[in-house]
Order: sequence, then C-alpha cells, then structure tokens
Amino acid sequence: MTKKKQPLKSGEKVLLGIVLVFVVLAVISYAALEAYRMRSPEPIFANKTHYNFSEEGKLGSVLFRKERCTSCHRALRNGTNMGLSLDGVGSYRSLQWLEAFLSDPESVYGAPTIDHGAPPKEAAYVSELPEEERHAIAVFISQLKAEQGSSSAPVPPEGRSEFIDEMVKVWAPKSWDNKYDDVRDKSAKAEGKEE
Ligand code: HEC
Repeated sequence: MTKKKQPLKSGEKVLLGIVLVFVVLAVISYAALEAYRMRSPEPIFANKTHYNFSEEGKLGSVLFRKERCTSCHRALRNGTNMGLSLDGVGSYRSLQWLEAFLSDPESVYGAPTIDHGAPPKEAAYVSELPEEERHAIAVFISQLKAEQGSSSAPVPPEGRSEFIDEMVKVWAPKSWDNKYDDVRDKSAKAEGKEE
C-alpha cells in the first residue's frame, strides 16, 4: 500500500513559515553576537571565577572528567548544565562540606535530592567511588573560586543597588527584618577583613 503525499495545508504553511522566521532570526543574531565578541578588544562577559590548583586539585580535575561528572556538571566552563555549574562553588562550600556531600549527599543536603543519593538515582555511583578519588575531586571543586559579583559568590556585587533596595522593600515582609540578616549589611561590615 502506498500513501500519496498530501500537500501542506495553508495553516501548516503559516506555522512552518513562523518557525522558519525564528530559526533564521536566531542564526542571524548568533552570528552577529559572535562577530561582535570576536572583534571586541575586551571580553564582553567579565570572567568572575578563577582557580589555582594544587597537585591534588589537578588530579581531581582529571578524575572529575573520568568519572563522568561533566555529563551533568559544568566546571572550568566545560561540561553540561544538567546539574549545577560548579565554577565558583569553592567560595561557598568548604572542602569538608564537599567531601561529606559526595559520600552522603541526602543527609548533607537536608532536602530531597534529584540525582545524588541512593540507587536508582543517576549519580548514586558517586558515593561508591574510592574514598581517595572522592577526596581529590572534592579538593578540585573546593579550589574553584568565585569573585564578588559572580552568581556563585557568597557576597552580592559591590555597591548599593537601588533596584535591589526597591525589590526588598516590595517583596520582603517586615517580619523578616528580625528573622534574617541582610547579606549586604554583613558583607559591608566584613569589608577590609578579607585576605
Ligand atoms: C546524573 C547527573 C549528575 C552526575 C553524573 C553528577 N551530578 Fe553532581 N549534582 C547533580 C544534581 C542534580 C545536583 C543537585 C543535588 C541533587 O539534587 O542531586 C548535584 C549536586 C552536586 C554538588 C553540590 C553542589 C552544591 O553546592 O550544592 C556537588 C559538589 C556535585 N554535585 C559534585 C559531583 C561530582 C564530583 C560528580 C562526579 C563524581 C557528580 N556531581 C556527578 C547531578 C549530577
């Protein structure tokens, strides 16, 4: 039995046309952005994360790729975004926390986890890796640092932002004043005390 190909209906043609316009626009904007980025004398996106690896950290970086962490995570701008980006994580998680998380994720997180944890979760194998490997990987991650202003930095960007002040005023209930510390006040106090 052979089926005759049906010609496209006019509605289908319109939809296809709209999709095509989006695709063409996306390609043009990507090409324009890349052309601008390559000609720009300064990087258009400032790099706010940095690293300085010890020997153990370098070993951890190799293991991080070998043990397929990059299939879900991003580090050193490599890997995927299926899990969290780990660039800069070393600025808000200590080495102890990272080691504890890799060996016993569910209790360290204190909340339901998606991929790390007991089988059949997809990253269950991580807590079964040899302890030395987990240690080296934790050292590697702890050396991925973030500067102030990076999305993974524990402190917000420098200076007061009117926009953030306004948002806090609108959205944060008055009762939070006593309940929580404003991280911006804390970082202003700590200024000058950092290494
Ligand atoms: C199948 C995807 C997947 C794989 C593979 C995976 N992870 Fe994760 N990872 C996640 C997700 C999702 C989270 C968030 C916690 C959760 O829900 O499991 C996470 C959280 C983390 C965190 C905590 C980050 C934070 O600050 O809260 C660390 C550290 C981490 N992973 C390291 C690793 C390492 C090291 C490996 C490889 C040995 C690895 N992950 C492999 C998906 C994955």
